[in-house]
Amino acid sequence: MTFTFVTLFKNLVEGYFQDSILYRALEGELIKINYLNPRDFSESKHKKVDDTAVGGGAGMVMNPQPLYDSLQELREQDENVHIVFLTPVAKPFKQNDAKRLATKSHIAFVSGRYEGIDERIIEEFADEVFSIGDYILTGGELASLVICDAVSRNIEGVLGNSDSLSIESFESPLLEAPSFSKPQVYKNMCVPSEYLKGNHSKIRSLKLALSESKTKFFRPEQLLKHRTRKSYEK
Ligand code: ADE
Repeated sequence: MTFTFVTLFKNLVEGYFQDSILYRALEGELIKINYLNPRDFSESKHKKVDDTAVGGGAGMVMNPQPLYDSLQELREQDENVHIVFLTPVAKPFKQNDAKRLATKSHIAFVSGRYEGIDERIIEEFADEVFSIGDYILTGGELASLVICDAVSRNIEGVLGNSDSLSIESFESPLLEAPSFSKPQVYKNMCVPSEYLKGNHSKIRSLKLALSESKTKFFRPEQLLKHRTRKSYEK
C-alpha cells in the first residue's frame, strides 16, 4: 500500500514513521510513504499557495492552482490513487472506513492549512472527504496521520498478531473489556480475581459484563445498538 501525503508541511508527518509499528511496516515494505508539496507547483513568483477568501471571511484559503497541478500529476502517475481530503466539514471517519480503505493500493491524503481549501479542488479531485471529529485542528496533517495509522493496522502483516484485530472495540458495538498485565497485585490494586482462576467461560462472561458497563458509561448509544442487534439474533 502506498500513502502519499499532499502537504505544505512534510516535517509534521515524517516523524510518525520513524518508530514502532509503522516504522516496521515501512522497513518491511508493507507500506510506502511519498510526499507531495503543493508549493513546489505554485506558478506565482513567490511560490504563494494561499490568498484571502473571495466573498469575504476571516483567514486565508489555499489557492486552486498549486493543488490542482499537484493532484493532476498524482492522478497521471497512478490512475488508481484514492484521493482523500481532510476537513472538519465532512463525514466522520470510522473503523469500517479503516478496514475498507486497507484494500486500496494507493491513498493520497490532502491536508488543508489556514482556513481551508478552495472548494472547487475538493469537487474536482475528492474520492472521499473525512473529518476525524467535531473539533478544529490547525491543519489536516494530524487527521491524515490518524487515518493512515488506522488503515495501516488493517493491512495484512502490519500487526504481529492478527487476533488482536478481530476482538477490538468497534468491531462490535460494545467497547472492549479492560486489560491487565502482570503483576497480579500492584500497589495494592488487584486484577479481578476471576481473571486469575483460568475458567475461560467465567472469564468470558465477566469480560462481557465489564464491556457492557464500560459501554453504558462511555457510549450509551452503542449499548442500545448492541441490545437491538442481540434481540434480532434471538
Ligand atoms: N482539519 C482541521 N480539523 C479537522 C478535523 N477535525 N478533521 C479532519 N481534518 C481537519
